Amino acid sequence: MKRNLVMIREAGRHINETVTIGCWLHNMRSSGKIRFLQLRDGSGFMQGVVVKSEVDAQVWEDAGKLTQESSLYVTGTVREDTRSKGGFELTVTGIELIQVTSDYPITPKEHGVDFLMDHRHLWIRSPRQRAILVIRAQIIRAIQQFFDERGFQLVDPPILTPSSCEGTTNLFHTKYFDEDAFLTQSGQLYMEAAAMALGRVYSFGPTFRAEKSKTRRHLIEFWMIEPEMAFVDHEQNLEVQEQFISHIVGSVLEHCRKELEVLERDVAKLEKIKAPFPRISYDEAVKFLKAEGHEFEWGEDFGAPHETVIAEKYETPVFITHYPTGIKAFYMKPDPNRPEVVLCADMIAPEGYGEIIGGSQRIDDPDLMEERFQEHELSKEAYQWYLDLRKYGTVPHSGFGLGLERTVAWICGLDHVRETIPFPRLLYRLYP
Ligand code: 4AD
Ligand code: MG
Repeated sequence: MKRNLVMIREAGRHINETVTIGCWLHNMRSSGKIRFLQLRDGSGFMQGVVVKSEVDAQVWEDAGKLTQESSLYVTGTVREDTRSKGGFELTVTGIELIQVTSDYPITPKEHGVDFLMDHRHLWIRSPRQRAILVIRAQIIRAIQQFFDERGFQLVDPPILTPSSCEGTTNLFHTKYFDEDAFLTQSGQLYMEAAAMALGRVYSFGPTFRAEKSKTRRHLIEFWMIEPEMAFVDHEQNLEVQEQFISHIVGSVLEHCRKELEVLERDVAKLEKIKAPFPRISYDEAVKFLKAEGHEFEWGEDFGAPHETVIAEKYETPVFITHYPTGIKAFYMKPDPNRPEVVLCADMIAPEGYGEIIGGSQRIDDPDLMEERFQEHELSKEAYQWYLDLRKYGTVPHSGFGLGLERTVAWICGLDHVRETIPFPRLLYRLYP
């Protein structure tokens, strides 16, 4: 049978019309002669009202059989209703049961995180999880829009790689027939090649880190956006980043008000996210930490608690620039005036969400790159192609990587990145 289904999100275009929706029962309240069905179809939630005296006996009976997550087609008239959440209500005239479900494991009572994670495939149906995934999708749309409008080309670097980008300590190893291969940690080196071919490029894809860290900021598999830009220096790189983040937050505020409300996000905090963002140097950050009573030596890397203390001073993200060369990746360009630090920046999100972007200007000098290869004992064989980029028309260039899940966690105001991705891969969790 062909049905002309209407989506709940489009109900507003069908006021006083009779429509059919394909949906699940989220919840039901009954009061003798009237049943209030909380319906969801993925696009939204809507209340259906079944009045015993106004429907066929069969419709009333079928409504009574409905349990949480039963699937059905509901026919009814759309009414404007300012009291209801969506602004609309359905006066039900017909019900066609698809499946009456029993024992749905996630009930309205509180469940522990492990239980919910084991049932992630069902948990994502909840209003809160749905809101997060809708915002994630909007963030991705905003990212693509930002780069597409500024003349960047989308380029896809490989997932299976013969060598590492960010160091060898957290690589996932696999066999590539008779050779060794690794799941990518970052597509950056390939994006540098692409920038020399296409000027301004960005990638958007999964990256993998076999990190034995069980923190609220770490995933084993996460999605990264990596722009790379020819003829762009350190300072211009930061300008692109602050505009990029302001655009993403603005887009979520514009399109996802309802979802932010479901999450009880303090939107006033997000409304303050406008470029430019403050910049402080690593040196200044160290001074500040010491003044705050933290034990910290120049040359150490910041941990999450340090980042939080620094970020607390600001209402927007903050750039920490010019880190010591020794704690950053081999490809970062030294500051010409102070070679012990590099032309890099980490962007630290407000409210304790930590580093969301890592980026830098890249070494363009072929001799210095050779030196770095020796210092870092990198195999020239594996990276010959990368060295070619400095040999054939090298130019100043810069880029950065944005972690999607940390960005979603911050914008949604979540305690943990595990809720930012449909099926998180965490330390000791590969299921479901
Ligand atoms: O700072 P990272 O390691 O930088 C790079 O990989 C560069 N090659 C990027 C570039 O310049 N093209 O990672 C970039 C961002 C971090 O700032 C963080 O937001 C995120 O990726 N990230 C993670 N997110 C979730 N779980 C993890 N384990 C993450 N590791 C990094
Ligand atoms: Mg980093």
